[in-house]
Amino acid sequence: MFPIDKVRQDFPILNETVNGKPLVYLDNGATTQKPQAMIDALVKYYSTYNSNVHRGVHTLSQKATDAFEEARKTVQRFIGAQHENEIIFTSGTTDSINMLSTIVGEGIIQKGDRIFVAESEHHSNIVPWQFVCQKHGAELVTIPFVNGALDIESYKFELKKGCRFLAVAQISNSMGRVNPVEEMIPLAKEKGALVMLDAAQSVAHGVVDVQALGCDFYVFSAHKIYGPTGLGVLYGKLNLLESLPPYRGGGEMIQEVEMQTSTYACLPHRLEAGTPNIADVIALKSSLEYLENLGIEAILAYEKEVVNYAFDELSKVDDIIIYGEKGNRSGAVSFNHSSIHAYDIGTILDKMGIAVRTGNHCAQPVMASLGITGTIRASFAFYNTKEEVDILIQGLKRAIMMLG
Ligand code: ALA
Repeated sequence: MFPIDKVRQDFPILNETVNGKPLVYLDNGATTQKPQAMIDALVKYYSTYNSNVHRGVHTLSQKATDAFEEARKTVQRFIGAQHENEIIFTSGTTDSINMLSTIVGEGIIQKGDRIFVAESEHHSNIVPWQFVCQKHGAELVTIPFVNGALDIESYKFELKKGCRFLAVAQISNSMGRVNPVEEMIPLAKEKGALVMLDAAQSVAHGVVDVQALGCDFYVFSAHKIYGPTGLGVLYGKLNLLESLPPYRGGGEMIQEVEMQTSTYACLPHRLEAGTPNIADVIALKSSLEYLENLGIEAILAYEKEVVNYAFDELSKVDDIIIYGEKGNRSGAVSFNHSSIHAYDIGTILDKMGIAVRTGNHCAQPVMASLGITGTIRASFAFYNTKEEVDILIQGLKRAIMMLG
């Protein structure tokens, strides 16, 4: 049995009240809550060994450096990367994609190359590729989102005309739809394309093995996996990252600097200019170890039960439209009422202590394809319960009664 009571005690924020009601936090797609172990790691770092990394010979600096590099190895193990130098720390998924698209644009993309992006992507996996296309004369090819899923036939058809790069999310942030990346990646590879997976929404909802997936790049944010904000990861195959130009210039990323030219450090430092986010990297290690200790498979099985229950219960509420089928879903259920605005429902739910996200979820193209401006998204984590789903449903019915 999943130890839900114990788990909930590990997340202090879950004891908070909001608007006088116990917090029901169903906005995990936006950010997840933090286990005490992560909070303790932050406090311990700042209270006992705060120091810059890779710079000093003094004891604290060495201690901080060791903890920082140990955390890199933990991330490597967690996502199944071959080498720790394939793990680059960034400030978040958005930063990872901007870094990657910039250096891929400079180092690989040629005029006329075709970059494939799904219509259901978050803006952070669309706009950076628009920049690349505008700057380097490449073409942005859209993989349409039709009837709640990516249109794989259209994808296959477009692949015939060539593909240099595929940038796609494993799970859509706005819909919770699991994209068939296991089918899509080999097809892109046959065309000689490079593949980046946006794992912002999936890293916390699956067993991650970047080598088995066969992607070249994999990006995510720490805060979506029970870690701190302001920290992200860019994984890239070592030979590819080595072949790409540097991104930001500054300390740490250089070997030798003369006034007119410089030579650059080896990976991972070449792509980590400046003082990194030391405390948060160390804290992320604690979050990942917390998940590993709980057991990823057990977490996933429990989460699935709660999300499926939410889908079933929402389906029973009159005039609720749920986007997507029950299967192929992870983490989130996105829905609307047929006549009441999502924002109004979200505001009433908040008064009852229930946190959901409303709006376009930074995914305007997929909203446009559905002919809507936004949805209500309830997104789940392993500390949520079926009782909380019941509270959501009661709150939703009450909101509909008040607003209808
Ligand atoms: N990308 C985050 C979300 O989907 C903020 O809510």
